[in-house]
Amino acid sequence: MKENGEKIAMLTAYDASFSRLFSEAGVDIQLVGDTLGMVVMGYETTVPVAVEDIVHHTRCVIRGNQRSFIITDLPFMAYSNIDQAMENSKKLLQAGAQMVKLEGGRWTEDTVFALQQRGVGVCCHIGLTPQSVHSLGGYKVQGREAAAASELLETAKCLEQAGAKLLVLECVPHSLGAKITEQLSIPTIGIGAGPNCDGQVLVTYDMLGISTHPPLTFVRDFMEGCTGGIIEAVAQYVAAVKNGSFPNLKESFA
Ligand code: KIV
Repeated sequence: MKENGEKIAMLTAYDASFSRLFSEAGVDIQLVGDTLGMVVMGYETTVPVAVEDIVHHTRCVIRGNQRSFIITDLPFMAYSNIDQAMENSKKLLQAGAQMVKLEGGRWTEDTVFALQQRGVGVCCHIGLTPQSVHSLGGYKVQGREAAAASELLETAKCLEQAGAKLLVLECVPHSLGAKITEQLSIPTIGIGAGPNCDGQVLVTYDMLGISTHPPLTFVRDFMEGCTGGIIEAVAQYVAAVKNGSFPNLKESFA
């Protein structure tokens, strides 16, 4: 899709009913994200999520999915060494996932390499990495200073080199999102990373306007003004990602 210039529409999914609906609405990738800990399980952060929680929700999603590609999150401390990453990726792939996602910078390089060598597709997630919220000091935009921006660019290249197949970029300035996208051959998926990424992802509960936290600048509520219910809102999200009208610059960070 990157080679063909077709934008990739991704959403988080946690259960069979939404998964079926997302497939019908044309969502390319469904992510069983560890945000399920916050939006489904009611935790304050994603830190308490266990591998078993992701396995359970992956199985639910798989039963509803018709055509989307399914990625699942390796949760906090589920990949702190290579053996652990192997064992937990095995559980996620055996539950039906087609790729695993892990958060973090260059320290994940060896793990990414080892996983892809053994046939596990890996999506890396850099920028704002919510599993590290406590050490980051909160949910803040990353890569605003020149040194931090070039570190993120180098990290992205290093993870591509290690064998990552996809890169999620969360909450970085749109100019950095564009630069990383241009310099990688693997697709980038942005969330608060500007319009020039190869695709976009949102937490479903946010884009349906049913999250309990205050609205986030980089999220659009696709239910607003929508008369056709959730399926139409999701189809509008897919269309807006594909035609490049979501996100606009107001929904991006400078
Ligand atoms: O867990 C999740 O839902 C995610 C997305 C926010 C990208 O990682």
